[in-house]
Amino acid sequence: MVNFPKNFLWGSSTSAYQVEGGITNDWSEWEKENAERLAREAKDYWQDWQQEKFPEMFNPPNYICGEAVNSYNMVDEDIECIKKLNLNAYRFGIEWARLEPEKGKIDQKEISHYREFIKKLKQNNIEPVLTIWHWTNPLWVSKSGGWENKKNIQDFIRFSEVVVKELGDLVTYWVTLNEPMMHIGHGYLDGKFPPNHKKSFLRALKVFKNFVQAHKEIYKIIHKNNPKAQVSIAMTTGYFSSASGWNPIELLIVKLGHYFRNEWFLKKVGGYLDYIGMNYYHHDRIVWHPPFKKNLNKQVNDRGWEIYPEGIYHVLKSYKKFKKPILILENGTADADDDHRADFIKDHLYHVGRAIQEGVDVRGYFYWSLLDNFEWAEGFWPRFGLFRVDENFRRIPRSSCRVYADICKNNEFPRQ
Ligand code: BGC
Repeated sequence: MVNFPKNFLWGSSTSAYQVEGGITNDWSEWEKENAERLAREAKDYWQDWQQEKFPEMFNPPNYICGEAVNSYNMVDEDIECIKKLNLNAYRFGIEWARLEPEKGKIDQKEISHYREFIKKLKQNNIEPVLTIWHWTNPLWVSKSGGWENKKNIQDFIRFSEVVVKELGDLVTYWVTLNEPMMHIGHGYLDGKFPPNHKKSFLRALKVFKNFVQAHKEIYKIIHKNNPKAQVSIAMTTGYFSSASGWNPIELLIVKLGHYFRNEWFLKKVGGYLDYIGMNYYHHDRIVWHPPFKKNLNKQVNDRGWEIYPEGIYHVLKSYKKFKKPILILENGTADADDDHRADFIKDHLYHVGRAIQEGVDVRGYFYWSLLDNFEWAEGFWPRFGLFRVDENFRRIPRSSCRVYADICKNNEFPRQ
């Protein structure tokens, strides 16, 4: 049996923009400008089997989030899904643009919406894990320089203070920022996400510093409100391995990759973390010559990402030295046919169990995602959900739901 500690948090994750629907922000504007281009470029970007399997990638509407999966209006249905899975925790986001559509004007009706939602979670014994920022900004923020502009950072801190005042009595677990390094990488280095800057190293550095400052300030605000609160960020993590196991160039790249992806941000906010929040999806097998990455890809998901469960064990082990509890806040796979999702979960959990056995203090696991949702620049075609969502927004359990639900209920599972 693979078993887990008492009171382990069994959860699933979503973010506000990806599921709620009806939001106007920097992403919704960006989609309008880029949907046609993304649909056109799909044929150069994705492999033949992906193009055949997901022809919707050629339709511009695929890239418009719009109603998303209507979670804003389907709170009760989503809670039913969470209950069907026997989860005792749920990670979700609040949307800054919804709560503060105009600078300085907080919409109390929307505060009540989130309060009611959190209360319902708690009535059902589901621990809320609240993400304040998950990649999206109100238009008044993006139009005035986004995360580069110090004034916006002050505004974000002020906004967070309101959130803590309004919701802090209901929430213990906080995620201030989701994967800040991804926003920096795609927003300022490869230009894939808004604000679309390419190789803007100075801007990237500025944004990095602003993220660090924002996190620290918000950490203090949350703790002032509730000294027992548990605050962290959700780190993008990945496992780097050397193909040869000895080549010095490979070993150096592995070291640098590990440091910059898994540790840099953590070290900068070191004293301001109650736990380490980590998202794990990727393995990079490093070779010494360009393009420096050559994965074996024995099994890949619908997005073409290699499935490499052992990697989560290595990342967890590498975090042991920080001597903090760890929550795995995201781990999941795009698998429209649900061919490999159940094995994916079991295989990753097996390696989480190994790390726990070896003394790593893992306190929870959150599958990404509860529902199929809007996968950013890829739009709707990659399907990460334990629940499929149809054209009428009906939530339909995939068969992997049962497997995960049993694990969550029993706090253990047999390893065949
Ligand atoms: C992000 C999610 C995203 C998931 C799958 C994570 O990096 O936090 O928003 O949907 O990856 O790509």
